[in-house]
Amino acid sequence: MNKNIVLEANNVFKEYTQENNKYEILKNINFSLAKKEIVGLIGPSGSGKTTLLNLLGMLDTPSSGEIFVNGVATSGLADKEKTNLRGSNIGFVFQFHHLFPDFTCLENVMFPLRIQGVQKNIALSRAEEILEKMGLSERRNNYPTQISGGEQQRTAIARAIVFNPKIIIADEPTGNLDTENAQMVFNLLLGLVETLDTAIIVATHDTNIANQIPKKIKIENKTLINI
Ligand SMILES: Nc1ncnc2c1ncn2[C@@H]1O[C@H](COP(=O)(O)OP(=O)(O)OP(=O)(O)O)[C@@H](O)[C@H]1O
Ligand SMILES: [Mg+2]
Repeated sequence: MNKNIVLEANNVFKEYTQENNKYEILKNINFSLAKKEIVGLIGPSGSGKTTLLNLLGMLDTPSSGEIFVNGVATSGLADKEKTNLRGSNIGFVFQFHHLFPDFTCLENVMFPLRIQGVQKNIALSRAEEILEKMGLSERRNNYPTQISGGEQQRTAIARAIVFNPKIIIADEPTGNLDTENAQMVFNLLLGLVETLDTAIIVATHDTNIANQIPKKIKIENKTLINI
């Protein structure tokens, strides 16, 4: 396998069964994401973008086919092994920030490090450093409800990247923001590619954002096409 490929889907299918009926959502999905690459994922609502991102991030399991995360085949892994692989390689950013409401911004950003067993003082200084980069130092002791939508999303990005993941999976990260904040959040994501060598796959409806991503893929008729 090409060492530069950090995320790969090989002939992936996904179907759901409801009341004995099978619904095919994705078929013949082949995809690879290289180090330092940013790929835009587009397609109409309901086409399967979130489904695909969840499969790539091991939040869901393909019906058939294989997902490789950092070169590791994931289909045979136990939940704990998936959690470890995810925890050391993938940062998620969602449309709605999913910050913990009872944690301050700083505590939210420290969280991924703490659950990986990083010492509190080390997690603290790392989280403070990231918040500073995000222009959020003054908000560090605020709770998520006490900051703006753009600040919430920047905090969520800070939390996603605090452990320097190789891969960022972002599902409509700017979907909930005005144009100015959307651009700021997108610029932050672009900056990660440069400064941390992160690879990013980002689903977006926002044509202004999509137009700024040179490499785009689209889900059409349940499968991926390059555009
Ligand atoms: N758990 C599930 N059970 C059955 N069907 C599902 C399930 N999750 C998603 N679907 C269906 O799969 C299809 C793809 O959904 P998905 O959320 O991936 O679309 P999307 O492209 O992300 O849409 P949006 O742009 O609105 O976020 C939809 O028809 C959805 O109803
Ligand atoms: Mg979606």
